[in-house]
Amino acid sequence: MLKGKNAIVTGGSRGIGKAIAIRLAMEGANVAVFATKETKETMDFVKELHTYGIKAVFVSCNVALEEEVKTAVAKVIEAFGSIDILVNNAGITNDKLLMQMKSEGFERVLNVNLLGTFLMIKECIRPFMKQRYGRIINISSVVGMMGNAGQANYAASKAGVIGLTKSIAKEYASRGVTCNAVAPGYISTQMTEALPEATTQAILEQIPIKRLGTPEDVANVVAFLAQEETSYLTGEVIKIDGGMYI
Ligand SMILES: NC(=O)c1ccc[n+]([C@@H]2O[C@H](COP(=O)([O-])OP(=O)(O)OC[C@H]3O[C@@H](n4cnc5c(N)ncnc54)[C@H](O)[C@@H]3O)[C@@H](O)[C@H]2O)c1
Repeated sequence: MLKGKNAIVTGGSRGIGKAIAIRLAMEGANVAVFATKETKETMDFVKELHTYGIKAVFVSCNVALEEEVKTAVAKVIEAFGSIDILVNNAGITNDKLLMQMKSEGFERVLNVNLLGTFLMIKECIRPFMKQRYGRIINISSVVGMMGNAGQANYAASKAGVIGLTKSIAKEYASRGVTCNAVAPGYISTQMTEALPEATTQAILEQIPIKRLGTPEDVANVVAFLAQEETSYLTGEVIKIDGGMYI
């Protein structure tokens, strides 16, 4: 259970992040939903989170911008008093073959997926160290482990998240802060909806469990890593891919 714990979920307004926010709220954690835009849909979702009997707030934040991250994390501390759980879920793709990939596009993906994760951890680490407690969970991808044609930028960013996770795990283990990553395979969200039917079929062939994952499949593992009881588990990368990459 996560009763009384305070959590941040970046990109928490839809897809995997939304499922994580719901799952943490179901376990009793207060949840700060970070997203770039304040839409009616997001505000309705934050209201829905209140029905779990927890505190929930929306915080506008582009994780790739250091000043926004600083202000946003301060707002959470003001609202909840402290932070215990940080889920770095915000992510983007910009798929292209290398020949068509421009350095600006490459940078944009790295800035959100990797720099954004770094900035969020950097801003939360001081409060974590002070209270000698923290749970950091980064959303990587199996693509960061196995590579993928057309996703050199995305794969590099997600591989970077794994290196970052392991380094933070080593640096802050003695302060009661754990840092782990999950590496989802193909999960049904707006990010994968755009794939042509033939591609989805080809992907299914490679998945021994024979279905795409759900955002809840990812949220279950994130909620496990967020528990106080997982204090001896750090620097780990857990694949959630139906056995696609073994
Ligand atoms: N869907 C998959 O198959 C899959 C597989 C492996 C990993 N992942 C990873 O899981 C995470 C969530 O993916 P999803 O499928 O739910 O995607 P999604 O596109 O549905 O959601 C991504 C979320 O991140 C937010 N976001 C984007 N840029 C941001 C920024 N600069 N600052 C703050 N928020 C920002 C978006 O607003 C959105 O809420 C991503 O990191 C993604 O790379 C997804």
